[in-house]
Amino acid sequence: MSISLIGKSIGESATLKLNETAAILRAKGEPVIHLGGGEPKTKPPMDALVAVAGLINSGEIRYTPADGIPALKQAIIRYTEDFYDRKVAPENIIASGGAKQSIMVCLQAILNPQDEVIFPVPYWVSYPEMVKLCGAVPVPVKAEDGSFHPRLQEIEQNVTSYTKAVIINSPNNPSGVMYSEEFIAEIVEFCEKRGLYLIMDDIYHRLIFDGKKPINCYKYAKDLSENSKLVVINGVSKQYAMTGFRIGWAVGNKKLVEVMTNIQSHQTSGPSAICQHAAVAAINGVQSSVESLRLTLENNRNVMMAQLKSFDGVKAYKPDGTFYTFADFSTYMKDSTKLAEMLVNKVRVVTVPGVEFGMEGFLRLSTCGTIKDIKDGIERMKWALDPNAPNELYIGDRKLVRDWM
Ligand SMILES: Cc1ncc(COP(=O)(O)O)c(C=O)c1O
Repeated sequence: MSISLIGKSIGESATLKLNETAAILRAKGEPVIHLGGGEPKTKPPMDALVAVAGLINSGEIRYTPADGIPALKQAIIRYTEDFYDRKVAPENIIASGGAKQSIMVCLQAILNPQDEVIFPVPYWVSYPEMVKLCGAVPVPVKAEDGSFHPRLQEIEQNVTSYTKAVIINSPNNPSGVMYSEEFIAEIVEFCEKRGLYLIMDDIYHRLIFDGKKPINCYKYAKDLSENSKLVVINGVSKQYAMTGFRIGWAVGNKKLVEVMTNIQSHQTSGPSAICQHAAVAAINGVQSSVESLRLTLENNRNVMMAQLKSFDGVKAYKPDGTFYTFADFSTYMKDSTKLAEMLVNKVRVVTVPGVEFGMEGFLRLSTCGTIKDIKDGIERMKWALDPNAPNELYIGDRKLVRDWM
């Protein structure tokens, strides 16, 4: 079969594949614990659901402007003022089918084949593939000290004449790390000086813990004119538990947004009308669900850390935000793909292999399920991996016998 070079270079989304595996096993009645998921299980805000019902009742569900309905742009303008203390115009905003599409059209708008895009390791699984979809080259940068915090010098060492952009995701999927304010200030200044686009993927910026406050990248930008190459990404998926609505957005300079809109208009004609109305209602509506989700996630994080502490040989790092913990399991198995496969096959616990995020030997464990999922999931993992654990484990009335150690 004749398949394009770009098509051939793109891997399957590891996280979406795992969701599928879990769904198939569950449908067969298997007692799966999903510690691989990337979506909160709480309900979307009532305001969003009411808005959807209203629009459906009206039957007036038509094409919208490719870059989003005026009401959504107004809501994003307010959001940007509230969280970034920055006043932007409607022409600075594009709403897309999820933050994923905003990032994708941004990359398509700025990259030529061979251009390079830098991002720290560990990184969100989609960044390398999105860059490759543009015919460009992903450049993941690993901190030499093995931490999740690359230093500016390490980013700088990877800049070449082909470098077009840097992507920073803080707090980070999969590590949960929030980069320091100092690092954000440095990277904003560095990208401005070197004329690089800086894409700040802030999708988790309201889901942070321990009294931390979101970091506002604009505070460190010297150039806030229409020449600024700073692009801020956000969306409703994570903070409002609205993953299925597929609404995200980008805030950038007017020329860039115009080009992104042209691209998007030929891809999808813009995001779904129904979902845009739901997003408007969520952003403008009662915000208590965000705080309640944040508190739940902080508590879940604490439970996960306590469980992992009692897991000999696992190195866990306390996340500052998100709903992920990225833990080092290399003492048990160096190959994280094999380890994740073994865990799902033997004890029906779904995790995501660290190699998908650029760090072999790690597993990403999600904390967006219930406390019971976290406790039972880690219990099963301990049983599967600890040679000193008793030989048998009961899952409900099913008896598992360990025959692999
Ligand atoms: C770091 C990061 N950016 C962007 C996205 C995309 O979110 P959306 O559902 O808005 O497309 C995700 C989703 O997992 C993510 O983890």
